[in-house]
Amino acid sequence: MKIVPPDILIQEVAPRDGLQIEPKWVTTDAKIRLINSLSAAGFGRIEVSSFVSPAAVPSLRDAAEVFAAIERRPGTIYTALVPNRMGAERALAARADELNFVMSASETHNLANMNMTHERSLASLAEIVKPAHACGALVNATVATAFGCPFEGAQPFDKVLDIVKRYLDLRVGGITLADTTGMANPGQVAQLVAEALLLVSSEKLTLHFHNTRGLGLVNAHAAYDTGARRFDAALGGLGGCPFAPGASGNICTEDLVNLCHEIGLRTGLDLQRLICLSNRLPGLVGHDVSGQVAKAGRPRDLHPVPERLRRSV
Ligand code: COA
Ligand code: ZN
Repeated sequence: MKIVPPDILIQEVAPRDGLQIEPKWVTTDAKIRLINSLSAAGFGRIEVSSFVSPAAVPSLRDAAEVFAAIERRPGTIYTALVPNRMGAERALAARADELNFVMSASETHNLANMNMTHERSLASLAEIVKPAHACGALVNATVATAFGCPFEGAQPFDKVLDIVKRYLDLRVGGITLADTTGMANPGQVAQLVAEALLLVSSEKLTLHFHNTRGLGLVNAHAAYDTGARRFDAALGGLGGCPFAPGASGNICTEDLVNLCHEIGLRTGLDLQRLICLSNRLPGLVGHDVSGQVAKAGRPRDLHPVPERLRRSV
């Protein structure tokens, strides 16, 4: 059978971005079950957890136990967020396939989030790449607050692109531009993505949007139209940075999959299966989640015509 590649790659970040901000403790077993069911659903990349200070993000303090127990589907890349060398060492010991290093374009947010200046973060990245490659791990580097910072406001394109160049000079294999608190708009997205694609190919560039101001899917669509092909999303629309005021969820995986399928883009994912998984999230996190398609159903899941109308036909 000929396997048709998807038109767009959707990378699942609910276990990391989704759970990092949840106040209720999600047990290690429940995290493992969630990740195993995401693997079975066919995601090519899953961000499993963070190797950060347990005091900073207590909800992900079990990252090593989670990595040790998940079932690894051949072909799926299991990623770990890392802020520094200690995080990278812990992630490599846990056999993460990929390290996702994060630094914010805004130095104020980087200090709030990572307690590091740009130079200190970049020095950490320089220490991480070689040992990661020696272990056969990939390295992706994220520019957080690339579309705006809750403390500093808009970030100049040149500043963001200079960080991308610094990352590439350090031999990073993938780049993510992240809209940490949903400040992006489609015009800005189109411009920055077009510039970024002059530096990085579409297979290596990921867009990471949050839906904080309701523009998440519009921004994803604008990025796709400009040539982006890789997107982070979180089941149910979970997510948010604990060190960014007003942060809220990522773009919702099943809502993005629905958008793609409706406009004829192949994702390789089964929307109904994702809806079933999303419907379990309120039981996991203890509150309703923001995803919309899981509540409304697929557009083609029609309702029976009311009895009154059927009788009159
Ligand atoms: N994993 C686990 N522990 C770590 C660590 C890591 N990657 N990096 C540092 N630590 C520990 C140190 O061992 C030290 O422990 P001790 O107090 O028991 O001696 C403590 O954390 C402080 O270390 P220090 O190097 O001074 O770090 P810091 O206090 O300046 O914090 C970070 C820096 C990056 C570790 C912290 O800000 C952090 O974890 N931020 C992550 C934020 C995040 O995940 N945001 C959401 C995702 S974007
Ligand atoms: Zn995020």
